[in-house]
Amino acid sequence: MASLTANPHVGYGKLILFGEHFVVYKVPALVGAVAASTTCVVELSNAEWSTGLIVEDNRPAVPGYKVEKAEEMLGGTNLVLKHFGVDPAKRGIKLTLGGDLCAVSGIGASAAHCVSLARALASALGKTCTEDEINAAGFEGEKGYHGTPSGIDNTAATFGGLLRFQRTDDAPIFKPQALPKPCRIVYASSGITASTTKVVGDVKAKKEADPAWYNALEQRYLNEVLPKADEALQAGDWQALGAIADVNHQLLQELTVSCPELDQLVSAAKAAGALGAKMAGTGRGGLMFAVCGDDEAVQTAVFDALTKVGFGNVWKTSFA
Ligand code: MEV
Repeated sequence: MASLTANPHVGYGKLILFGEHFVVYKVPALVGAVAASTTCVVELSNAEWSTGLIVEDNRPAVPGYKVEKAEEMLGGTNLVLKHFGVDPAKRGIKLTLGGDLCAVSGIGASAAHCVSLARALASALGKTCTEDEINAAGFEGEKGYHGTPSGIDNTAATFGGLLRFQRTDDAPIFKPQALPKPCRIVYASSGITASTTKVVGDVKAKKEADPAWYNALEQRYLNEVLPKADEALQAGDWQALGAIADVNHQLLQELTVSCPELDQLVSAAKAAGALGAKMAGTGRGGLMFAVCGDDEAVQTAVFDALTKVGFGNVWKTSFA
């Protein structure tokens, strides 16, 4: 088959440290890329090759993830293709996805997919895109996955590192954050694949039904979490960071986006010596993470404890 081939292009996975859900309503959040990414290779047909879209999805994934997300994944893919003016009905295209990011809800696998696809497509089309343009294309794809994304996931997938992110009426504001030293983290899957569209939609309905309830939670996030998290991150004060993770988890429980599995993982991490722990991302499934600071022995103990809980995969990483 004669085709034009691009090299693999990457999009990073991420964990939201603080501020998921509140970030949808233009409140700042903090997000950190993990040391794993999705890759995409694009092959575009020349005149001889037939039309149509072929997707070969070789990404590692937790059980059920790919089936659950199949429709959304196709929606996201089509939006990125459209953004670049590629119509598979006119020109055949094959996408091969891979990389070392295990697809699980909460890790930003959809954004990592859309950003890697945007990079690979730009390259295959011979377009030179700025990082902001790649981010914008990733945002378009994210809409196929979850309707009204805040943009935090595609921004982390594009730029990597640790970022402070805020959605605005115009382009989002994001600032890289420098840490004085790396912080060890363990993250674990609840074994449940959550739909961001559904959970974000449900929070929106609850917010509209009872604005005072939502506003009080948001205010507590703004007073008790965000400024203290900024301070703790800048100072490398992991004890304080852990305590703030606990407060944020409590707020997310009150927002009704945690679930018994996430709460059980959070408790197990703390019992094993974590400095604090919280769910991360959409919730009602997906992931949680535990702050382990500088201590490798604590990280190992938390990893072992979360593995023993047995809901699904457990990973070690660090934010630097
Ligand atoms: C999903 O990873 C994070 C949410 O805050 C939704 C969003 O920001 O688009 C739940």
